[in-house]
Amino acid sequence: MLRRLYHDQPASFAFTPANREWAELQMTKYPEGRQASAIIPLLWRAQEQEGWLTRPAIEHVADMLGMAYMRALEVASFYFMFQLQPVGSVAHFQICGTTTCMICGAEDLVAVCREKIADKAHTLSADGKFSWEEVECLGACANAPMAQIGKDYYEDLTAARLAEIIDELAAGTVPVAGPQNGRYASEPLSGLSSLKEMDSGSTQYNASVQAAVDIGDTVKRIDGTEVPLTAPWVGKYAAGKPSKPVPRGAAKKSPRPDEDEMIGRPPVKAAATPEPTSNAGKKPKTMKAPRKAGADDLTLIKGVGPKLEALLHSMGFFHFDQIAAWTSQEVAWVDQNLEGFKGRVTRDDWVAQATILAEGGETEFSSRAKKGEV
Ligand code: FES
Repeated sequence: MLRRLYHDQPASFAFTPANREWAELQMTKYPEGRQASAIIPLLWRAQEQEGWLTRPAIEHVADMLGMAYMRALEVASFYFMFQLQPVGSVAHFQICGTTTCMICGAEDLVAVCREKIADKAHTLSADGKFSWEEVECLGACANAPMAQIGKDYYEDLTAARLAEIIDELAAGTVPVAGPQNGRYASEPLSGLSSLKEMDSGSTQYNASVQAAVDIGDTVKRIDGTEVPLTAPWVGKYAAGKPSKPVPRGAAKKSPRPDEDEMIGRPPVKAAATPEPTSNAGKKPKTMKAPRKAGADDLTLIKGVGPKLEALLHSMGFFHFDQIAAWTSQEVAWVDQNLEGFKGRVTRDDWVAQATILAEGGETEFSSRAKKGEV
């Protein structure tokens, strides 16, 4: 089917503060200049927030990641995990219609959707609670026929069971995901014939179903408030509200100036001089300018690119020996105040690298950088 932007689009999109913070943390997972790699989680979070992916949401994410709108649209329109039109407020059903499921009864499942939800795919049910579509193989062929409902797989379905599931969801309950015919996972219907000691596992449900049950994050969409805002890859990042997060690419002014107002924050200023945003740790000594011989090439530190180097200069850091002298408290302060790059000092162990470079040595990265290999 053609995957196009919906004809009726909202005027704007803004992440909720919690979702925005989450999104900015995702961006710190990737090396400088590679923030576009966060496109899928950010689009997904935008969809979680709104229910479907609007054009303003796609453009908003593209702006955050410094991507052309078309590039973001390419991703959004390629994967059918992204819904480009409104979906049911309770659940969207994705019925697998590929070979195995088709042979095992997918057409009967589609018939149920037509009867109980809407005659045509991508159409809301009369009460607005449900929508459906047929999708290609979802990789659960051993449990055909199956459907993805919300985030989970409902497998070994029959038309009667799917009808019941729709009724249960309409009544406000979330049926347990996974095989619907009593199977634990994808073992033979007649039971295990080998590896019997591994039979039913140690949990009531198989791993993915157990996780869904435990987390409760299935058909229900998340709004960001229930997701812990921790970023283990950042190291010392303490969950909480950032005072003034500035995403990468913030120098580019948002084409939607009212967006920041919508989330109660002053608009990001173009090329703003970074200011300390956190009192965590202890601020290291800074310099107003480099020494007479000039600043060291801080991009020889793995993880520091030209933008980050400019940011460090604006904060008063020009030399390897400055960085090498940072205490753990000072590292914590810098990590918290690198707008758009939080956690980089710890992640790439700048202090260890700077110590070697300050002593005139070379790191594996600096050697390759000098040869133009990175
Ligand atoms: S054919 Fe349906 S999951 Fe593979």
